[in-house]
Amino acid sequence: MGLMSVEPEKSLLLMTGSTREGSVNTAVLKTARTTLPHHWTALAYSGLTQLPHFNPDVERSVPPPPVRNLRAAIRASDAILFCTPEYAGAMPGALKNLLEWTIGDTVMYGKPVGWINPSTAPQRAAGTYASLKTVLSYTGATIVDDACLNIPVNRALIGETGTDEDLGVQERIRAGVLALTSCTH
Ligand SMILES: Cc1cc2nc3c(=O)[nH]c(=O)nc-3n(C[C@H](O)[C@H](O)[C@H](O)COP(=O)(O)O)c2cc1C
Repeated sequence: MGLMSVEPEKSLLLMTGSTREGSVNTAVLKTARTTLPHHWTALAYSGLTQLPHFNPDVERSVPPPPVRNLRAAIRASDAILFCTPEYAGAMPGALKNLLEWTIGDTVMYGKPVGWINPSTAPQRAAGTYASLKTVLSYTGATIVDDACLNIPVNRALIGETGTDEDLGVQERIRAGVLALTSCTH
């Protein structure tokens, strides 16, 4: 009888920058969850609206539970996939705030990160991803270029299950997820 090799499960953390119900960005992450390779699971981080405003004094003492939960979720993940809308030419304040809580910690160091930008706007929400790139580079994360994709998503093709029903879009999302997950081997 041969020995079976058991690959350890790996975990992809899904981070949306949208706080609203019916978000296209959250739907894209939900779709990404359906394209995971073998031995990968996904966790959708859901604490964005519970995070307090970043405060360096608090950071230096004992960070509150939502911040500890955020850091634990990042620490437990093998890679992170972001999807975020653009507000006023940059990433939403809520997402910038989330990332600020990671700066004074080492949780993001070397963490493979990528994003899917579903914007259909003429400027393709370029400002939000430029600012995301800047801030992620301060966190020490490893930005996986092949996993940073513009995949315009037609809101009308998001089905009742909250995932994108366009097969072409699904395949492009799968390629991004594969690029991100394969760099952790
Ligand atoms: C206050 C506000 C500001 C916005 N600013 C921009 C912007 O600068 N550029 C852009 O492309 N879209 C902008 N939008 C549109 C959102 O990015 C767009 O509706 C996006 O699809 C929302 O993502 P969601 O469905 O995941 O919440 C703005 C929307 C709001 C409410």
